Amino acid sequence: MPTTTNDNLKPAQGTSCWTGPQLAGSSSWIVEISDADRAAIKHALDASEGRDALSLTAADFPVGAFAENLAALRREAAFGTGFFLLRTGLGDLNEEQARRMIWGMGQYLGIPQIQDARRTLLHDVRDTGVDLKKQPDVRTYQTNEAQPFHNDGGDIFALLCRRQSTGGGRSLIVSAHTVFNEILRRRPDLAKVLTEPFYFDARGQALPGRPWYQALPIFQYYGGHWFVMYKRHYIDLAQRSDEIPRLTDAQIEAMDLLDELCDDPSFHLSFEMSPGDMVVGNNFTTLHARTAFTDPEPTSGEKRHMLRLWLGIEDGLALPPAFAETREFGPLFETTKRIAI
Ligand SMILES: [Fe+2]
Repeated sequence: MPTTTNDNLKPAQGTSCWTGPQLAGSSSWIVEISDADRAAIKHALDASEGRDALSLTAADFPVGAFAENLAALRREAAFGTGFFLLRTGLGDLNEEQARRMIWGMGQYLGIPQIQDARRTLLHDVRDTGVDLKKQPDVRTYQTNEAQPFHNDGGDIFALLCRRQSTGGGRSLIVSAHTVFNEILRRRPDLAKVLTEPFYFDARGQALPGRPWYQALPIFQYYGGHWFVMYKRHYIDLAQRSDEIPRLTDAQIEAMDLLDELCDDPSFHLSFEMSPGDMVVGNNFTTLHARTAFTDPEPTSGEKRHMLRLWLGIEDGLALPPAFAETREFGPLFETTKRIAI
């Protein structure tokens, strides 16, 4: 079994290390699908008409030769650059078609994972008018607030845009590996701090029998790979409890530097999602964010609407044992076979 070796801080290496400006000049991460592939997706939507999205297997959502492209994209998200933006051109999907499309394509990308204590497998991401600060079980995706850089659960996440807001709501993604390397270069002392445990608030979503907080490093080196787990909101919110230690000055300084680098346009990539676009990203090598947005009218029924899957990769990397305690990654230990190193 591999061991967690946080005392030996090595820079991350490989295709997961990139900067936004490097990618902004290339379209390698943007996948414009062909007319034939779009027709295949439409055919799959017709073939699955009337079916409950969550009952569909890949065979129930037949996309023909596009399946090979999805297999290659899956590898790119799981083991390469760590994300891609698929432009399907299908911008007029109704809610039920959008559910079948993300779920159906998700079947080719991985195994859907539960996303909360209610065991939801497919989440709607929209502003529900709730207040993150007043209700302890509210999560940021249920609000219109800016979402600072964080990762989701599962090996990879998939986010389909069904309807975009009229103002704001830009998507940002950064290579956590590149950011970690920069912290290691500038402040190795703070890089070390980030490999020590932090307490995260589970927002009422802890796994059964687990405490409402989780303590684990923001960066962990395990089995030859760096893994990130970061949600500053939830680390700060965990401080509401007297049961856990106060954040130290060094921890705060380390997170401030991490945030500063993620927010820096010379590190992150910024892009706009249009209806029909699906972004797929790696939760261990990238962090993502979105700017605040405004909906046309809170009750108009025309709100920004995204659908989200968390997916497990059958042949994914061996995971740090500390992840077993988390709601984001814990289910992966049971639903996927991991590579034995
Ligand atoms: Fe997210």
